[in-house]
Amino acid sequence: MSLSAYATPSPALQKEVSRRRSFAIISHPDAGKTTLTEKFLLYGGALNLAGSVTARKNQRSTTSDWMELEKQRGISVSSTVLQFEYKDCVVNILDTPGHKDFSEDTYRVLTAVDAAVMVVDAGKGIEAQTRKLFEVCRRRGVPIFTFMNKLDRPARPTLDLLDELESVLGIAAFPVNWPLGDGPRFKGVYDRENKKVHLFERTVHGSFRAPVNVSGIEDESVKNTVDEITYSQVCDELELLEGAGADFDVEEVLAGRLTPVFFGSAANNFGVQLLLDRFLELSPPPIPRESEQHPVHPASKEFSAFVFKIQANMNPKHRDRIAFIRIVSGQFERDMNVFNTRTGDNVRLANSQRLFARDRETVDDAFAGDVVGLVGNYDLLIGDTLASSPEVKFDEIPRFPPECFSYLTNKSTAKYKRFRDGLQQLLKEGVASEFQLLDSSGPSSSVLLGAVGPLQFEVLQHRLQGEYAAETRIESADWSIARWLKPKEGDPQAPDARPALSLGTALARDSNNWLVALFPSDWAMKTFSEKNEDWIISEQPFAP
Ligand code: G4P
Repeated sequence: MSLSAYATPSPALQKEVSRRRSFAIISHPDAGKTTLTEKFLLYGGALNLAGSVTARKNQRSTTSDWMELEKQRGISVSSTVLQFEYKDCVVNILDTPGHKDFSEDTYRVLTAVDAAVMVVDAGKGIEAQTRKLFEVCRRRGVPIFTFMNKLDRPARPTLDLLDELESVLGIAAFPVNWPLGDGPRFKGVYDRENKKVHLFERTVHGSFRAPVNVSGIEDESVKNTVDEITYSQVCDELELLEGAGADFDVEEVLAGRLTPVFFGSAANNFGVQLLLDRFLELSPPPIPRESEQHPVHPASKEFSAFVFKIQANMNPKHRDRIAFIRIVSGQFERDMNVFNTRTGDNVRLANSQRLFARDRETVDDAFAGDVVGLVGNYDLLIGDTLASSPEVKFDEIPRFPPECFSYLTNKSTAKYKRFRDGLQQLLKEGVASEFQLLDSSGPSSSVLLGAVGPLQFEVLQHRLQGEYAAETRIESADWSIARWLKPKEGDPQAPDARPALSLGTALARDSNNWLVALFPSDWAMKTFSEKNEDWIISEQPFAP
């Protein structure tokens, strides 16, 4: 089968593809991502499930030890995929870890989505981790929708929040609606497009859709509800916006240069439906993706997908390994045979599941935009392509250069095999990367690991202990920058090819045997590059 078959859409599949919306929700921890996800589910009719997202958060101690770590530290590391139908759309929500130390995992999840919703606590504005996660979104070029949350609490001035989006994140902001007051005086939002006010009434725990009264801003009922100062301030602000605000341009939204902004309160389930409805209208369905310069159309009859996440032992009772695939084209059918185009092996996709919190259900068929969990030992790596044709190959998912390093030592020699097996599995999941020092060694019988943030080491250590009963010790090393090296001429893998070192710098090999320099500072890296003009110094690993 030639690649051209992948470029042609099939009318039969087009309908399924165009009703799919796959997106991630990103936020600084505690901004309200879990709560918003839960409220979205209410609209999808998944009433019985909505509580289980929080339940999942609270019950983590019963699922596994490293989830216990998440609970203790208030971080979210694992991610789940939720799927529901709403107004003829099939909605796939991919959860992302909130902490910046897991921004590489977030990036991987973002390779599998077509848009992102960024939740901001309106009382706090853009927080450090939102900035980092936003940066990751920008690198992927995904359209971003912003939800300013917690308006039922004192919030920063609305214009300041919008300015901050523009000045801190560098993205133009278009307020789709505008809040009427904040904190105890929060009375609702004004929908700028339809020129309607949605008045807010508090409900207990927001467990039901908030009742909404809709009227024009001039309406007496609005004037009677909103206090005088807030009313005149909102009228002034709206006038200012009409005169000087950014224009709405859907092309700019799709290019990731303009973010539509919504205001509300997820906990009170207010403003959530306005966000969801408009989001589903504006956000893109799956679009074609390049396979080595050939476009693969999502509605093509030929199947293709890629692995964006691997996770073992999500459920300690099952002790299994799940590879999450995002379908790029065609129709997935359980038991289908496809190629792993990295190895050329033929693989039967027998055990396919959809995960919901701690429940799982078998997936019999799915379409472009959907995410399927393949349970079992398929010998898959992150970034692998699965396709009906061995020629399809999607871009590799780039690794983030590690910014911290630690030595990991196995405490009990009797359990060395468990330690090594566990470590191998966790390295495959991309929790950290292993490096072999060339001229020096760390503490005896230790392994040098690099990660984006130190919490990754904590997760690794917790999981080795909890899932493999391997007790370890972690000692941090002084380097903070890694760069991949190859000589401009000659064999890049030659063992005797060595650059001149700068102070505090060490040489190591990565798991693909590429030479890597580890630097303690920018200064050491600068000195190194001045000394080694005949070497290519790269932030990214070279292809294997
Ligand atoms: P995260 O996933 O982004 O980490 O945040 P999460 O949804 O867990 O929300 C963090 C806290 O903020 C929760 O409070 C949640 O109830 C609260 N919250 C979310 N949305 C709103 C909102 O619109 N208004 C107000 N006032 N609070 C909101 P918690 O005390 O940690 O948990 P809980 O006891 O309320 O469940």
